[in-house]
Amino acid sequence: MSAKTMVCGIVLHPAGHTRSPAMHNAAFQASGLDAHYHAFDVPPEQLGDAIRGMRGLGLRQLAVSLPHKTAVMGHLDRVDETARAIGAVNTVTLGENGLEGANTDWVGALRALARETDPKGRRAVVLGAGGAARAVVYGLVQAGAHVAVLNRSEARAQQLAEDLGAAEFGPLSRLAELAPEIIINTTSVGMGTEASPVGAETIPGNAVVMDAVYEPEQTRLLQDAATRGARPLGGKWMLVHQAAEQFRLWTGLEPPVDAMAEAFDEAGRS
Ligand SMILES: NC(=O)c1ccc[n+]([C@@H]2O[C@H](COP(=O)([O-])OP(=O)(O)OC[C@H]3O[C@@H](n4cnc5c(N)ncnc54)[C@H](OP(=O)(O)O)[C@@H]3O)[C@@H](O)[C@H]2O)c1
Repeated sequence: MSAKTMVCGIVLHPAGHTRSPAMHNAAFQASGLDAHYHAFDVPPEQLGDAIRGMRGLGLRQLAVSLPHKTAVMGHLDRVDETARAIGAVNTVTLGENGLEGANTDWVGALRALARETDPKGRRAVVLGAGGAARAVVYGLVQAGAHVAVLNRSEARAQQLAEDLGAAEFGPLSRLAELAPEIIINTTSVGMGTEASPVGAETIPGNAVVMDAVYEPEQTRLLQDAATRGARPLGGKWMLVHQAAEQFRLWTGLEPPVDAMAEAFDEAGRS
């Protein structure tokens, strides 16, 4: 690093296991950019100071992760329409008009899905109704899918469906009757455990099954999907593609997705 090195990063809490610095630094290196991406561990009570610090220090870009994606909106000059509809910002840019918030999670989800299928006109079921679900549902509705939201708390699924224009909602137990061609798990079930949000027998053999959970990479849901003959798609790809879209937004360059995916793998081994 030198005095000219562009410094950017991610604010999150806790910062322990994030693979974002590895992915972004690999992208900067592959693209020959003099830039460095750092993980800033910012507890909720210091978020305002951190964002003000961004302005004061002239940091041009910051990613925002849990638990700050909604709270950060109150500290920005402008939030774009998409991030406002989703209700979360994961990308902040300091430009001529001040601090501007955007969301790349929904594009990340669509680009990940595009590795296996085009959601246009397909029956898609989103499991979960939290922050990740809002981005995924927004993306699927934009892409022209017929979307159902299933969640443990049905009231939350209903609210999300109404907010973002999903066609149906219900409890997780409705999966089998909906005969989905696409299933995306956005619940946290499976993260660090052997659990799955739905029974293996309810997964149709012709479906594409994407998991937002990426730790472990082979979740129980993805293993069950493969056993049923369905096509599994790991959460790694949603994470890599949302980071790639941040890179595109910040640099205006085509993101080196393969280098970012390799860095994701490498960071998981260390
Ligand atoms: N790959 C990526 O790029 C990416 C991006 C964002 C998030 N994620 C992952 O997605 C997951 C969800 O994140 P989030 O920000 O959306 O979290 P969140 O807002 O806290 O939502 C959690 C969701 O999981 C459900 N849930 C939790 N425990 C459950 C259980 N035991 N049984 C059934 N449902 C349960 C909740 O249902 P209730 O509403 O009933 O509580 C809710 O729908 C996390 O694992 C996160 O790491 C991945």
